[in-house]
Amino acid sequence: MTYENIRFDKKEGIAIITIDRPSKLNALNSATIKELHNALKEADAAKSIKVIILTGSGEKAFVAGADISEFADFSVAQGERLATEGQAKLFDFVAHLSTPVIAAVNGFALGGGLELAMSAHFRIASENAKMGLPEVSLGVIPGYGGTQRLPQLVGKGRAMEMIMTAGMIDAHQALQYGLVNHVTSLDELMEFTQKIAQKIMRNSSVAIAAAITAINAGYEDGENGFEEEITQFGKCFGTADFQEGTQAFLEKRKANFPGK
Ligand code: COA
Repeated sequence: MTYENIRFDKKEGIAIITIDRPSKLNALNSATIKELHNALKEADAAKSIKVIILTGSGEKAFVAGADISEFADFSVAQGERLATEGQAKLFDFVAHLSTPVIAAVNGFALGGGLELAMSAHFRIASENAKMGLPEVSLGVIPGYGGTQRLPQLVGKGRAMEMIMTAGMIDAHQALQYGLVNHVTSLDELMEFTQKIAQKIMRNSSVAIAAAITAINAGYEDGENGFEEEITQFGKCFGTADFQEGTQAFLEKRKANFPGK
């Protein structure tokens, strides 16, 4: 598949998907959202891909938000559709992907940009990163899951303050809040993120997918995370990865997981 608004590189089991509209600070227009959906689907389906890294092109922005020029004249119905489709195609899609997704936040992650980073399974930021949900400064609210995922990650009071003030926090504050797991220099961001990806890749991708499902269940309305954990735990016993993982341990050798 060819892409115009993103770059899609595959390297040693890792797919690096780079949002590539630097002149618009990588703002998410509908074409970019569609391409991201297709690239994520392609990476998830590829047996050889064990981890996906999402990042932004250039040194200034991860993603500076949804593309404001696209929705400035939308009606109520169009606004609702924008959020519904965006959540289904990209934000919920990322959050529920079986392949681990890491956001390497290399600059501004604002509005839809922070919502995209928050949809990823976890985040690593460079020192120049600035994060915020400035939607209320435009007369709208976060519509790509931000009102739900930010409180889950940083707590309700901090999320309320960030959303109400429309302000930005820097990488170190984001680390303190638990919004990102690590902070690196901009130069080291991709190497550091790939090192974490390599640690993930040593493990069973089938078990990791089951863990993602169980963890996510605790955050879904009407689902019982503990019950989902039991189901997923049980399922693991029927997998070739479990056979290999336990056998390798007993034989004192490195596991060679068949994987997804
Ligand atoms: N949607 C559409 N275009 C955007 C954009 C967005 N969310 N964010 C940045 N851009 C565009 C700018 O319009 C500008 O385009 P132009 O050169 O054709 O005029 C280009 O990207 C560069 O941005 P600029 O504002 O000139 O850079 P800056 O360094 O002065 O400011 C920001 C950087 C991030 C502070 C500023 O771009 C900004 O506030 N962006 C909007 C953030 C936002 O509200 N996001 C939430 C949307 S719901």
